[in-house]
Amino acid sequence: MSEPRPPHPDIARILVPEEELQRRIRELAQEISRDYAGRTPMLIGVLKGCVLFLSDLMKSLELDCCVDFICLASYSGTSSSGVVRMLLDLRESAQGRDVIVIEDIVDTGLTIAYLLQNLKTRGPRSVEVCTLLDKPDCRKVAISPKYAGFRIPNEFVVGFGLDYVERYRNLPYIGVLKPSAIRKDN
Ligand code: IMP
Repeated sequence: MSEPRPPHPDIARILVPEEELQRRIRELAQEISRDYAGRTPMLIGVLKGCVLFLSDLMKSLELDCCVDFICLASYSGTSSSGVVRMLLDLRESAQGRDVIVIEDIVDTGLTIAYLLQNLKTRGPRSVEVCTLLDKPDCRKVAISPKYAGFRIPNEFVVGFGLDYVERYRNLPYIGVLKPSAIRKDN
């Protein structure tokens, strides 16, 4: 076994360590496997933040599933612009499918509210949200994801798929950035 890597020098503290992420993702997968037994849900990953969460979650699901991706943008630096844009659309039809939207984090809720409204026009059989992180104190719209890994306080976090200006997505834990790592122009 290799020694654990020391935290990245820009990380002030680790909020959710790797082992805790993995344990909770297995639990979420068990819950989803029970709830969707006998069905083949369509997982819709919201790029780019979903990538590590989605791949670990899928591996632990004990049912058949399909996967597709959508890319939405609303963030600039450490704050949400409030305007959601679709950069990449689904390749598959969601018509009649049991859709589970896989998100990295629900913060203001604006991104997921936009996506849910958009998906409803495509005639899915059902739509639920599964998010790794939930920041309920930051909501601007009332959204409560059916599956949520961790409730976290109102802090800007990175790692395990989440970025700050496209960096830190590859960290295997969720961490809080040092103020010195945040550009003053944001
Ligand atoms: P919302 O529309 O405010 O709910 O934000 C959703 C998107 O903003 C997420 O999918 C993330 O890409 C991004 N985001 C929100 N909070 C954070 C954070 O603390 N770190 C990194 N990205 C975040």
